[in-house]
Parts: sequence; C-alpha cells; structure tokens
Amino acid sequence: MFSRITSSKQLCVVFRNCFSTSSRSDVKVAVLGAAGGIGQPLSLLLKQSPLITQLALYDIAHTPGVAADLSHIETRPKVTGYLGSDQLADAVKDAQLVLIPAGVPRKPGMTRDDLFNTNAGIVANLVDACAKNCPKSMIAIITNPVNSTVPIAAEVLKKHGVLDEKRLFGVTTLDVVRSNTFIAEAKGLDVTKVKCPVIGGHSGITIVPVISQCTPAVSFPQEERVKLSVRIQNAGTEVVEAKAGAGSATLSMAYAANLFAKDLLEAMNGTEGKVQCAYVRSDETEAKYFATPVLLGKNGIEKNLGIGKLLDYERNLITAAMPELLANIKKGEEFVAKNV
Ligand code: NAD
Ligand code: LMR
Repeated sequence: MFSRITSSKQLCVVFRNCFSTSSRSDVKVAVLGAAGGIGQPLSLLLKQSPLITQLALYDIAHTPGVAADLSHIETRPKVTGYLGSDQLADAVKDAQLVLIPAGVPRKPGMTRDDLFNTNAGIVANLVDACAKNCPKSMIAIITNPVNSTVPIAAEVLKKHGVLDEKRLFGVTTLDVVRSNTFIAEAKGLDVTKVKCPVIGGHSGITIVPVISQCTPAVSFPQEERVKLSVRIQNAGTEVVEAKAGAGSATLSMAYAANLFAKDLLEAMNGTEGKVQCAYVRSDETEAKYFATPVLLGKNGIEKNLGIGKLLDYERNLITAAMPELLANIKKGEEFVAKNV
C-alpha cells in the first residue's frame, strides 16, 4: 500500500484511516423489545450506523429470527440476538446505549396511563438489569407512559446507587418530528429545514409544542395556532385510531428514536452541538421531569437549554399540563417504592 503513496498529504489520509479512533471505538447498543412494532424497524435503522460495533437485540419472543435476518445486512454493526430473561444480562452487558421500546401499546379508547399496570414492571425489570450489567450506559426509554416510566427507571437506578441523571432520557423526539411535519405542511415549507421544540411530557395535554420558537419563524392566527397545537398533542391518538386496534405509531417512532440515538451517539463520539428535546430530570418547573431541548455530549446531557421565551398561550399550556405531569411522576416513583 505504501509504495503507491506519492505525497505527504496522501500519507496523512492513510494514517488517519488506519489509526483514527474517533469513529472506530467499540460501541455496543442494546435494543430491549427488539422484535416489536418499534423494535424491528428501529433495529434496522440502527444497523445502518457506522458508529455502532455491536447491536444487541433482546426480546421475550422472536429475537433469533430478527437477529438472523438483520445480521445479513452488509453494514458495520455485528448483530447478536438474546431471547428471554435468562439472556437479558448478556444482552445489556457493557452496553454504552440501551434503547427500551419493550411493552404493550395503546388500543383505541385507551390513554397512555392505562398502560402503566403492564409496562411499569417491564421497565423496572429491564432497567434493573442495566443497573447491574451496564451501570454507566445511556438509557433511552420509549415505553409508555413515558411520563411515569422515566421516573421508574430513575428510582430503580437510584436503588442500585448508579443513577446518573445526565444519562437517562425519555424519548419525545416523535413529538418534535410531528410538529416539524405539520408546521411545514401548514406553511408550505421545506420540512427538512423546520425545527420546532416540544416541551413538557409525552401524553395528551402534557405535550407542549412551542411553535413561537420554531425555526424558521412562523406566525399563525391564534385559532390556527390552537388547532395545530391540539393536533400535535393528539397525534399519537390519531395513529392509534387509524390502526384500529393493531397498535400505535411504530414506523414514525422508529424513525424518531433512530434520530435521537444517532445524535446521542455522535455527541458521545465527540461531535459538538447536538441538541434534542428529551424528557429528563429537570429544575425548569415544579415537575421533577420535564422535556426541554438538551445539549448532548460525551457524558450525556451537557446542558439543559431550558424552556426559553414563551407566548402566554404556551405558558398556559404548561400550567394546564402540570397536574397530570406531577401525578404521572408521583405514580412512577411510588411504584418503585412499593414494588421494587
Ligand atoms: P409491540 O407490542 O409491537 O412491541 C413490544 C415488544 O416488547 C414485543 O416484541 C414484546 O415481545 C416485547 N416485550 C414485552 N415484554 C417484554 C419484556 N419484559 N422484555 C423485553 N421485551 C418485552 O409494541 P410497540 O408498538 O413496539 O410499542 C412499544 C411501546 O412503545 C409501547 O409502550 C408504546 O406505547 C410505546 N411508544 C412510545 C412512543 C414514544 O414517543 N415514546 C411512541 C410510540 C410507541
Ligand atoms: C405516540 O405518541 O405515538 C406514542 O406515545 C404511542 C401512543 O400511544 O400514542
């Protein structure tokens, strides 16, 4: 190889490619619930990441087939499958990022809180395994009700003495993805250029779109702003009703979770300036957990970028969200205190 090098510039390129560690470090990502409606397309998207070396797929059903299928794709991550609770510890062992979409989805007529009784225990059990086997991992929770499952995860990690609030996220990226899409449609904008923060929680009225902070700036008559905000708040239900009993958003959620994971992995790898909205431990309001834009870094949340300037209408949405958000957080914390 060296015989063909004719300039020092070429030599630099060869050395950089051979010895660069910035994008070549070992990164294990685990997906828990990997055979599900979100888990499968999310795993497919993650399989395309050059930043991942091992993609560990865990579920209580069907993982051998999903893993075998994905393992034939000619991309960098090596796929490994894990089936059933006996293999959970191995699945998460030394992972740097764990994504959790395990648990039941809504059917028409249900609220996200109606999933609590089934999903609280699932999340507590999976995070317990993370605390024991990858205590320094970033953990991103997709499982609903996110408003409660994130506090559950925090309390479980706290019990093990390994809670690092900068490494725990509730994934609310889908709310931002939807806002961007709906605003671009309403204004005839290039959707790839639209960025609208969504703060608060991830259920109905706890979802607070901040259209006034959208870039590019957009203006709406109040009636239209209200209509758009309410649509964003109910967008999950829109999908649940369209699927008519066959579950909730899976493909758009996989897209959103991959977007979040990609930015987090790049930030962990040293890329600066990665910002995502996420439901995290927060001092921004009286709610202990609250979604805001956060600056991501090597160790997770580098800086909470806060709520920013709001319209009175948006401030009133936060006020309206607070009772439900506080109750959801309390319910999650009490579940761990009583059951774990
Ligand atoms: P799904 O039923 O299609 O898949 C869930 C998967 O979890 C299944 O493969 C199931 O076998 C697995 N599972 C169940 N118990 C498990 C356990 N103990 N350990 C490991 N895996 C287990 O559901 P889905 O459509 O993929 O949705 C999953 C969750 O994501 C739901 O709670 C849903 O409400 C939530 N969700 C969240 C968002 C968000 O924005 N955060 C968006 C969409 C859906
Ligand atoms: C969503 O926003 O699509 C998810 O939280 C799933 C749901 O139940 O609506």
